[in-house]
Amino acid sequence: MQSIVEQDLGTPARQSATLVTLSIDGQAVTVPAGTSVLRAAALAGSKIPKLCAAEQLEAFGSCRLCLVQIAGMKGLPASCTTPVADGMQVTTQNQQLAEVRRGVMELYISDHPLDCLTCPANGHCELQDMAGVVGLREVRYGYAGANHLAAAKDTSNPYFTFDPAKCIVCSRCVRACDEQQGTFALTIQNRGFESTVAASQNVAFMDSECVSCGACVQACPTATLSENSLIEKGQAEHSLITTCAYCGVGCSFRAEMQGEEVVRMVPNKDGHANHGHSCVKGRFAIGYASHPDRITKPLIRAKISEPWREVSWEEAIGYAAGELKRIQATYGRDSIGGITSSRCTNEETYLVQKLVRAGFGNNNVDTCARVCHSPTGYGLKQTLGESAGTQNFDSVMQADVIVVIGANPTDGHPVFASQMKRRLRQGAHLIVADPRTIDLVRTPHISADYHLKLKPGTNVALINSLAHVVVTEGLVHEEFVRARCDVESFAQWRDFVAQPANSPEAMQPITGVPSLSVRAAARLYATGGNGAIYYGLGVTEHSQGSTMVMGIANLAMATGNLGREGVGVNPLRGQNNVQGSCDMGSFPHEFPGYRHVSNDAVRRLFEDEWGVPLQGEPGLRIPNMFEAALDGEFKGLYIEGEDIAQSDPNTQHVTAALESMECIIVQDLFLNESAKFAHVFLPGSSFLEKDGTFTNAERRISRVRTVMQPKSGYADWQITQLLANAMGYPMQYAHPAEIMDEIARLTPTFTGVSFARIDELGSIQWPCNAQHPEGTPTMHVDAFVRGKGRFLVTEYVPTSERINSQFPLILTTGRILSQYNVGAQTRRTENNRWHAEDRLEIHPHDADERGIADGDWVGIASRAGETVLRARVTDRVQPGVVYTTFHFPESGANVITTDNSDWATNCPEYKVTAVQATRVSQPSEWQKRFREFTELQEDLLKHAAVAAK
Ligand code: SF4
Ligand code: SF4
Ligand code: SF4
Ligand code: FES
Repeated sequence: MQSIVEQDLGTPARQSATLVTLSIDGQAVTVPAGTSVLRAAALAGSKIPKLCAAEQLEAFGSCRLCLVQIAGMKGLPASCTTPVADGMQVTTQNQQLAEVRRGVMELYISDHPLDCLTCPANGHCELQDMAGVVGLREVRYGYAGANHLAAAKDTSNPYFTFDPAKCIVCSRCVRACDEQQGTFALTIQNRGFESTVAASQNVAFMDSECVSCGACVQACPTATLSENSLIEKGQAEHSLITTCAYCGVGCSFRAEMQGEEVVRMVPNKDGHANHGHSCVKGRFAIGYASHPDRITKPLIRAKISEPWREVSWEEAIGYAAGELKRIQATYGRDSIGGITSSRCTNEETYLVQKLVRAGFGNNNVDTCARVCHSPTGYGLKQTLGESAGTQNFDSVMQADVIVVIGANPTDGHPVFASQMKRRLRQGAHLIVADPRTIDLVRTPHISADYHLKLKPGTNVALINSLAHVVVTEGLVHEEFVRARCDVESFAQWRDFVAQPANSPEAMQPITGVPSLSVRAAARLYATGGNGAIYYGLGVTEHSQGSTMVMGIANLAMATGNLGREGVGVNPLRGQNNVQGSCDMGSFPHEFPGYRHVSNDAVRRLFEDEWGVPLQGEPGLRIPNMFEAALDGEFKGLYIEGEDIAQSDPNTQHVTAALESMECIIVQDLFLNESAKFAHVFLPGSSFLEKDGTFTNAERRISRVRTVMQPKSGYADWQITQLLANAMGYPMQYAHPAEIMDEIARLTPTFTGVSFARIDELGSIQWPCNAQHPEGTPTMHVDAFVRGKGRFLVTEYVPTSERINSQFPLILTTGRILSQYNVGAQTRRTENNRWHAEDRLEIHPHDADERGIADGDWVGIASRAGETVLRARVTDRVQPGVVYTTFHFPESGANVITTDNSDWATNCPEYKVTAVQATRVSQPSEWQKRFREFTELQEDLLKHAAVAAK
């Protein structure tokens, strides 16, 4: 349990090889050059009063409270803006300083409400603290002068309130928005006494550019900007460090608690992935955990047309195990399987694959990473030898050229995007390859050097043409290639990409990207210093997803951009634990640590530990499970934390497969789309209710901690254990730490990992073993994990999903900041205020041609199905391309996507679907059926609750 007050050293730490020694109140202190006197004093234990300074922000020097005396210097300089110097002699406390500081405080307090006892910040208000510190006893000016006490509150944001009557105009909020978040939504308007904080052009926060990250709220030293939850509930009495359960950035938070109730989530300054920053989801969107839609009692039913029956855990587990055993006895050992999820902890995922392999006796286990980053695992393993990104996030601060391919960091990975934007504002160059004009292309103080606006589905053509320029213009890092790579494979690749057919000019008609831009971008990446590539699902979710990952690795190796800080190949993982769920062996062909099930030595290792013989043949992938179900061979499925009926492509195909099965067990928080087809519902636990670990996009393993007891009585790992025991395969873990110990015993890249070690170091980036006892921030430093880096020929093969006169547009999909994937969590929060429905983005030209205006209902038809969404007419998309998010089930985005998939991994080709768009006036037939089915299933659920009363 942690203290809820963090120490603030006043100004940011400085890195310098030069150390400076000075004297503060007679005590010698040595700090890096560039450190402020204020910070040096704090490190020496001298507390100088301050208001406008904060450790996360560059000093501003406006409040004049931190004045000090420095021998030989005139006047009283502000310690926050004064850098240290060798031999400097600083006095922080004396009579003169005390009087000046009291005078400053008198001015502040004369224009401040005197409602401390009823103020939400009471007890943690820095203004209140400083009044005490400087010994304020009276306000000589009185309170009757001109003031701001009648200023109206801005309550437009659902999560925080702005009460300008309490503002001391310290500008910490403005600097937090500029420096930490990079949105530049706030400003101090007017001068002198008229100065006030304004959002955008003095509009309500909700009408401004504000993205509700909360950085300004955290920075505010008074109650001017306060969380609504804090205003409503009062202050926390204890806090615990845990990890956000949304995206692959893996931000660390202090959950501030009153008993078992979360008062607020405060980003952890010591968090290695987020350094005290957050986004609207992790900081504010946790209301789903206590939403009334949560199901907290186990449910069973024999058929999906029957009402649910609320039962005891014993009965539910007994029924589920009985059904799975019956199905295996009737249809064979391989007729059942399990799907785990990147929402789950490492320990939970590990247990599900263990249950399937050891308890079910087959390898029919898969994970939702199948549908997002499986090509990353495959492509990076083939080329570099390890299925993971090569850097930590902080590495971006050393990058000179940042290449973003098929990713939208400001929406998908917002905290990392803020760090990336900081580096870009410092002068790093930016190349964006994306069919859409994502925000990063042009955002305050940032403008991409090149936006390669390619046609969806032509990634490989683009990467080959970039490589062509590198190879034919003499930009290969010959020394790196000779020393670090397999030269034979390099020669083959070089000869391939050098072919005229791969030139930017030859590829221009395919990619739609002007050849001159491709040439210039390739030169910049190859010669501009440290080149770092960041990519997302716009790379992987294609029929050539794995090819493109290899193409990226080829390009990075050829230019020597691997194996040190500031460079690398960095997959931006979508969900919180995509990396972990892959690491934990949840693919059907691999044990934990990416070792093939056919490897006899590895299999024996697991057989010895698990005490049963294991299958040496890979099991079914998710799409194969659906096919086998429709063929009548696959009849039972255990799904933990994944909603395949909403997230997988070609919804009608998925739901037909689900309907054909005899027992579907869903372990989740809500009656999600898959649960509507289930026979057993096992109520799962939210990330606040369990212990475990998540592994973020940097391979960083962080702790998730129980801040409240599981609402259903069991954490998810316990439920899997109950099911395993009922199936006849014994599991006896007393705590998830024991599961991690087993993982460490069996997985060479995890041998040094334990809960105790993570607690000690804060987090650990794997590999963590005898060679790397504190983990590995940068991979492939002296040699690639596979030895020599392997180049692979990446021939461009167009997708079979072609446009024609019937389907002339290409639909591509993505996420938005405020919602999260299938939306099961964020839709149950106030985040709906930002995004209450999925819309179809369509270029004005295409809209005009079809008579579609902004806000019209549009029917979108593909070869797989049809749905209806409202139009957003925008030139963010290029002509011929339409785009939508997929956060609401009734949108049916995946009714339209097809069964096309990556050749190597079956990752669905979500990013390319040929469609037609037409103006319509009513929902699609699928949507009508969806609504009827949803109403029916909700009724059947209500029946269970009523019957239980
Ligand atoms: S809102 Fe808070 S942080 Fe911003 S200027 Fe006012 S007191 Fe300072
Ligand atoms: S919440 Fe974030 S984006 Fe909004 S004004 Fe505050 S710092 Fe800026
Ligand atoms: S950036 Fe990702 S991990 Fe961080 S708070 Fe937002 S959703 Fe959570
Ligand atoms: S803290 Fe230094 S001037 Fe405000």
